[in-house]
Amino acid sequence: MTQDELKQAVARAAVEYVKGGIIGVGTGSTANYFIDELAKVKGRIDGAVASSEATAQRLRGHGIDVVDLNSVASMEIYVDGADEITKHMHMIKGGGGALTREKIVAAVAKKFICIADESKLVGMLGKFPLPVEVIPMARSYVARELVALGGNPALRQGFTTDNGNVILDVHGLTIMNPVELENKINSIVGVVTNGLFAARAADVLLLGTSAGVQTMKAE
Ligand code: A5P
Repeated sequence: MTQDELKQAVARAAVEYVKGGIIGVGTGSTANYFIDELAKVKGRIDGAVASSEATAQRLRGHGIDVVDLNSVASMEIYVDGADEITKHMHMIKGGGGALTREKIVAAVAKKFICIADESKLVGMLGKFPLPVEVIPMARSYVARELVALGGNPALRQGFTTDNGNVILDVHGLTIMNPVELENKINSIVGVVTNGLFAARAADVLLLGTSAGVQTMKAE
């Protein structure tokens, strides 16, 4: 099976978790497959909260109502992809630059369902450069602080987030303790958030493999 077919398979599996109400929807190529599958059962839900402008546009394109998160008191599920995920359900996200909104929507949802092809499952996080969303005027200061933490930050060229900020992609990190590093980076003044999703990890991973979709939970 191709990587795209694996992504499609996990997107289809995630639809089984859609029972009704408002759901949270992530960003990226795997999330896009999920949106396309969700469109087939859109009568089941009252609407969706989008984690990016791109996702909002795709949802609307399928005739799915996009709801403002501020009008949502509770949400059963959030479905999104990941750039890396471990068996502990810790993730690196933000390859598409939507990490902050993704983290906000995920925080509201009761269950985070991660959908990913098998290439995303890793033993240790950090090979994928860790995205950090930064207020533009703090860029150089934050970069120096990230170097002090052992990373090698690179400004994502020609990219502005939906929130009007920049992204530093941090290379060369060996992430032994994701929760600690997530908190440490988030405490640097000028950082909006970083792409470690460890303090609030995934609850379920639907992993696309050539042998079928595996359902995994934190070990
Ligand atoms: C978007 O900002 C990211 O967090 C994506 O969810 C993540 O990069 C996975 O994307 P793909 O499904 O395109 O690999």
